[in-house]
Parts: sequence; structure tokens; C-alpha cells
Amino acid sequence: MYQEKVKVLWNQSVGPEYYRIGLTCNHRYKDARPGQFVMLRFPGQITPFLRRPFSIHKLISDNNQTIGIELLYKVVGEGTKKLSMIQVDDIVDILGPLGNGFTFSRHYKTVYIVAGGIGVAPLVFLATYLRAKGVDTAKSKVFLGGRSKDDLLCRDEFIDIGMKIQVTTDDGSEGDQCFITHPLDVASKGGRPDVIYACGPLGMLTCVLDIAEKYRVPCQVSIETAMACGMGACLGCAVEKKGPEKAYLHACLDGPVFDAGIIKI
Ligand SMILES: Cc1cc2nc3c(=O)[nH]c(=O)nc-3n(C[C@H](O)[C@H](O)[C@H](O)COP(=O)(O)OP(=O)(O)OC[C@H]3O[C@@H](n4cnc5c(N)ncnc54)[C@H](O)[C@@H]3O)c2cc1C
Ligand code: FES
Repeated sequence: MYQEKVKVLWNQSVGPEYYRIGLTCNHRYKDARPGQFVMLRFPGQITPFLRRPFSIHKLISDNNQTIGIELLYKVVGEGTKKLSMIQVDDIVDILGPLGNGFTFSRHYKTVYIVAGGIGVAPLVFLATYLRAKGVDTAKSKVFLGGRSKDDLLCRDEFIDIGMKIQVTTDDGSEGDQCFITHPLDVASKGGRPDVIYACGPLGMLTCVLDIAEKYRVPCQVSIETAMACGMGACLGCAVEKKGPEKAYLHACLDGPVFDAGIIKI
């Protein structure tokens, strides 16, 4: 884990409330894993006081060298509003890569990826990684759900990786009008994947875990609880552990990616 001040390469709007920010980074980010995150702070920042966590969306390469990372973010409050106003060549302070990312087994050939809204952010990095690991992208599928069509991001990236995409929206503005877990259930019944990976709102993740259990498919979910320190010091990110006794894990240290069966959400 490194703390460094990095230069902003770009900070572009990619839809109402959504932005991508490119940051130059220490080349050691080449070892970052999908699902890991950074805690970001603006130098001179007085408010918001605390760093904010963001998943690594992509690695930025030049001449086969990792020279930076890209984050994809949604403006939801004070910190992300300020982030959206940052200019090219400004300096921000990041701490990372943090946490435990998604894991891969060489037995995984067909995967289902489930993204709810901005939960798609770490899953593009994951899909790129899975293709490099030899997953059959043509047989694998991405389930992309959003409140409306404006919340369906990164379709071109998944198509470039060679994955089929199914979309749903809550308001019916694109795809079927239902939760994304509905087509996931139907598809899992028709042909079990080797693993399901998911990131999105907690309600969606609970339903994904139920579906994985129903069809006995291994499943990993990334939990985006609020985080204050990102390093196990504040207990702000406690996630209840499954088991007979009440016990908690830290989403920042033990997660944010957890195997199904480990946590209660
Ligand atoms: C491991 C991890 C990875 C994340 N990756 C991304 C990412 O790649 N892109 C992205 O846009 N966001 C991501 N988030 C969420 C992001 O950290 C928050 O949206 C951000 O901290 C909000 O800061 P703010 O100051 O703008 O909002 P605040 O003013 O702090 O909060 C505004 C509103 O957003 C709600 N909120 C704050 N944090 C969260 C959260 N984690 N989940 C749901 N609601 C929240 C608050 O309850 C409040 O209602 C991630 C969170 C975690 C823990
Ligand atoms: S965010 Fe502080 S302990 Fe996890």
C-alpha cells in the first residue's frame, strides 16, 4: 500500500452524475487486483474531512507499463461533487491499492458478472482480468442493471472484451423493466456458470447471494459500505460474519470482496 500525490490526467463526464478520472500512479499499481480500491483525498482539502473510497476501474498502460489508474464515480455528495470539479494537472492524494479483490480459480471458464448502477466500476477491471486468465468470454455474461438507462454504464467495454450483456432498468427506459436479478435467476436456472461475481446495492447483493445458493454456484460480492479510514483503524465498515456467534469483519481489510457464505448482508 502506498500513499502518493498523483496528477490528474483527465476528469470527464460520462453521463448525468457520472465521471471518469485518470490518475498517474506509481508503477507498482501493476500488481493491483480487480476489486481493490483507493482512498482519495484532495490536498488542501478541509471538507469533506475524510478520504473517500473508490474502486480501481481500469489500469492505464503505456508501452506495456502501468502508468496510472482510472476511477469511475457517481456524484452523490460533497466529496464526489468536489471531485467532479477537479481539473487536468491538479494533484490528488491517494492511498492504495487497498483491500482484498476478487479471486479466480483456473476451473472458472464461464462466469456471470452482475453490476448494479455504479457497482459496475470494479467489474470492468475484473472482466479484463478474467479474459487474460482464459475465461470463455463468449459463454460468459454481464448482467447490467440501473434505475434508468442513464445508469447503464460501460457497455462498450464489456462488448470489446467479448461478453454478452443483458440490461434491465427499474423504470423500463431500456431493457426489461425489472431488477437485474430476475434475468440472472432465469439464466442460472438454464445453465449454471462456474462463478458469479457481483457489485452493487446491498439489496441486489442479498438477492444475488440467494440465487447463487439456490443453484449452488460459487459467488463473490464486493460490499461498498461507508468507510472512514480504509485501513482497519476505525471500525466504521463492520460487516456481520455468518456463524453461531455474533462477530464482525472489516470490509476495508477482510473485503471489500467476500465469498458467499462468509458474511450476512
Ligand atoms: C470499497 C468501496 C469502493 C467504492 N467504489 C466506488 C466507485 O468506484 N465509484 C463510486 O462512485 N463510488 C464508490 N464507492 C462509494 C463512494 O465511496 C461514495 O459514493 C463516496 O464516498 C461518497 O462521498 P461523498 O462525499 O460524495 O458523499 P457523502 O456526502 O459522504 O454522502 C452522500 C450520500 O451518499 C451516501 N453514501 C456514502 N457512501 C456510500 C456508499 N459507500 N454506498 C452507498 N451510499 C453511500 C451517504 O449515505 C449519503 O446519503 C465505493 C465505496 C467503497 C466502500
Ligand atoms: S474503514 Fe476504518 S476500519 Fe474499515
